[in-house]
Amino acid sequence: MSIAPATPETIAQAADILRSGGLVAFPTETVYGLGGDATNDAAVEKIYAAKGRPSFNPLIVHVGAPDWVASIAQADARFGTLTRAFWPGPLTLVMKRHTTSSVSKLVSAGLDSVAVRMPDHPVAASLLLAVGRPLAAPSANKSGSISPTEARHVLDSLARPPALIIDGGKCRVGVESTVLDLTTLTPVILRPGAITREQIEAVIGPVTIGTDTPHAPKSPGQLASHYAPGLPVRLNAAEAKTDEILIGFGPAQGTLNLSPRGDLAEAAANLFALLRQADNATLYKCIAVAPVPEQGIGLAINDRLRRAAAPRNTGS
Ligand code: TXA
Ligand code: MG
Repeated sequence: MSIAPATPETIAQAADILRSGGLVAFPTETVYGLGGDATNDAAVEKIYAAKGRPSFNPLIVHVGAPDWVASIAQADARFGTLTRAFWPGPLTLVMKRHTTSSVSKLVSAGLDSVAVRMPDHPVAASLLLAVGRPLAAPSANKSGSISPTEARHVLDSLARPPALIIDGGKCRVGVESTVLDLTTLTPVILRPGAITREQIEAVIGPVTIGTDTPHAPKSPGQLASHYAPGLPVRLNAAEAKTDEILIGFGPAQGTLNLSPRGDLAEAAANLFALLRQADNATLYKCIAVAPVPEQGIGLAINDRLRRAAAPRNTGS
C-alpha cells in the first residue's frame, strides 16, 4: 500500500485500479473516501469488507456531473434546484432508484433508494472524470470509528488499507456531507453537515430534521455510537478533570483547541484530527470537549460529538 501525492500520473493509475474493480482512497472536500466502481458488485462488496461495515448501511454514490444521476435515480424538480445551488459540494441527495439503475443494488443495502453527491474537490473531480463511472465511497475509516481528514488517517484507521491512497492534503470542510432525503414530500435532513437547514430551505422551502430511532434508523448509518475514539468522551466540559484531556473551543482553552478564535468552520475542519490526537495521547483516560454553539455547521459538529460520546453498544 502507498500514499501518493495527487499528480496526474497518480490519478491515471487510480482510475485504472478503479476500472478493474479495485479500491482507492481519495480526498474530497469533506473527508477521505474509500472508492470503488459503483456499477460493479464485486468492487462494492470489497468496500463493505474493508471497512467492516454492516451490510444494512448503504453507501453514497459520487458522480462527476449532475447529469450522471439520470441513469441512477429518479430525480425531480427539487434535484435540479438543489444541485444548481449546492453542487459540487457537501450535499448528498437520497432519491428513489431507477428500476434499471446503473449502480449496484449493494450500494443501496436493500433499500429502494440511492444517495448521490458530486464532491467539490479537484482530485475527486479529476478522478471521477478519468474513471467515467460513478464511485461508491464511504468515509475511509473502520466502521464506527473517526472519519479521516488526512491521507495518513486512512492508513491508521483501516486494518487492510487499499493499495493506493491519494494524498490531497487536509480536507477543507472536515465533517461529512449533509444527507437530505428527497423520497418524501417534505425533505428530511438525515445527517447534518456543512450545508445547513437554513441554506436548503432558502431554495426549496421547509425541510424537517430526521429523528433518530436507533433500532430502525431511517439513514441506517446514523447509529447512536459512531465516530468513536478508543477513550470515552465527555461533552460540554468547562474544564479538564484529573486524567482528562480537554479539547477547547474559542476562549475555553484546552490542551488542544478546535478554533481559538471561535470559528465554527475552522472547528469542523479540525474536529476529527483533534479527536484522533487526543485519543492517541497516552497520559489520559478521557477526552473532555468544551461546548460548541448549536448553530450553522455547529449542528454537524455536535451531532458527531454526541455520537463519539454515545455508549458503544450498537455493534457498528
Ligand atoms: O462527505 C461524505 O458524504 C463522505 C465523503 C467520502 O463523500 N462520505 C460519507 O459516506 O460520509 P458514509 O458511508 O460514511 O456515510 C453515508 C451516509 C450514511 O449515514 C448512510 O446511512 C447514508 O449516508 N445513506 C446512504 N445511502 C442512503 C439511502 N439510500 N438512504 C438513506 N441514507 C443513506
Ligand atoms: Mg462514515
